[in-house]
Amino acid sequence: MDDTTTLAKVTSTELTAPRETREQLADDLVAALDEGRSMPPMHLYDAHGSALFERITQVAEYYLTGAEAEILAREADAIVAAVRPHEIVELGSGSSIKTGALLTAMQQAGTGQRYAALDVSTAALDEAAERLAREHPQLWIDNYTGDFHTDLKHVPRSGTRLLLFLGSTLGNMRPTERRSLLRAAAETLRPGDAFLIGLDLVKDLDVLLPAYDDAEGVAAAFGLNLLRVIDRELDADIPLEAFRYEAVWDPGEECVEMRLVAIRDVTATVGALDRTITFAAGDHLVTEHSYKFRPERFATELASLGLAIETVHTDSNELFAAVLVRPDAD
Ligand code: SAH
Ligand code: AVI
Repeated sequence: MDDTTTLAKVTSTELTAPRETREQLADDLVAALDEGRSMPPMHLYDAHGSALFERITQVAEYYLTGAEAEILAREADAIVAAVRPHEIVELGSGSSIKTGALLTAMQQAGTGQRYAALDVSTAALDEAAERLAREHPQLWIDNYTGDFHTDLKHVPRSGTRLLLFLGSTLGNMRPTERRSLLRAAAETLRPGDAFLIGLDLVKDLDVLLPAYDDAEGVAAAFGLNLLRVIDRELDADIPLEAFRYEAVWDPGEECVEMRLVAIRDVTATVGALDRTITFAAGDHLVTEHSYKFRPERFATELASLGLAIETVHTDSNELFAAVLVRPDAD
């Protein structure tokens, strides 16, 4: 928490410095090359990646954002009435566009005026705060640049909290990592608090897979941006054009695996690692997993962490769910 600036009703605090994120990228790349060839998704979200993700949310095939927005627009008042939050705190807030419905509901109910956003992307946080400050002039906005796996405990509390984790970003974690994030979140919840989690549901692959490989190629550009980030941040020269993007369904895990596949033999140098890396044609690097959920199974997972689902809200096409979760009363 070394750099806090204040502008009108917006504060910005750096919980993780860019240098630490770069070191993390280097460590994650070494682990990916030496072990599973899989990278954690946080590195996808530099300023360009965050902008590409916003474009994904607007392509016709990406049903998730519209479905969740429908639920929030319909249920925001009821959720706020049930929780009466003094503050809304959001993990992986991105553009915060869908959050607007909950912020308006909280302000109209008169229960609170504080919104804290925690995201690895400073560009996304800054852009969102500028818009939110215009649309909600009474709101106090506290932006935190950091890692939601480790930094939530550093976000100060002002009263009853409605914690948000929207967009099914929880699905981008593998089960073990998901469990530790849920445990860390549970540890911050007090009696009266609530946790609203967006979950993309298991569904027909004809609907699901095109969301991750749209005709316009925006999902592909988003995945390939990882190589651009590695080249820039780690002084590497991996050629983007030597890779193609693919999204594959894993029926056992019930997740989409997104990969960059080498279309020819590739040799590149990574200056920051002082290392030459190679890909044989057909080798791949996993950029992301996107797990899909079944609410009954998720309830069991939560129960083992002392959390219980109070309400499951779904959109009219039953593509997506927003579950309102409470800490068990001890
Ligand atoms: N909640 C928004 C954005 C989802 S995209 C929505 O529903 O549309 C995922 C967001 O999580 C991005 O803004 C990305 O920058 C952020 N993110 C990814 N990994 C992160 C991490 N480890 N810590 C903090 N933020 C992270
Ligand atoms: C942020 N997250 C929930 C997205 C998803 O649907 O898994 C990330 C994404 N990657 C490619 N398209 C969307």
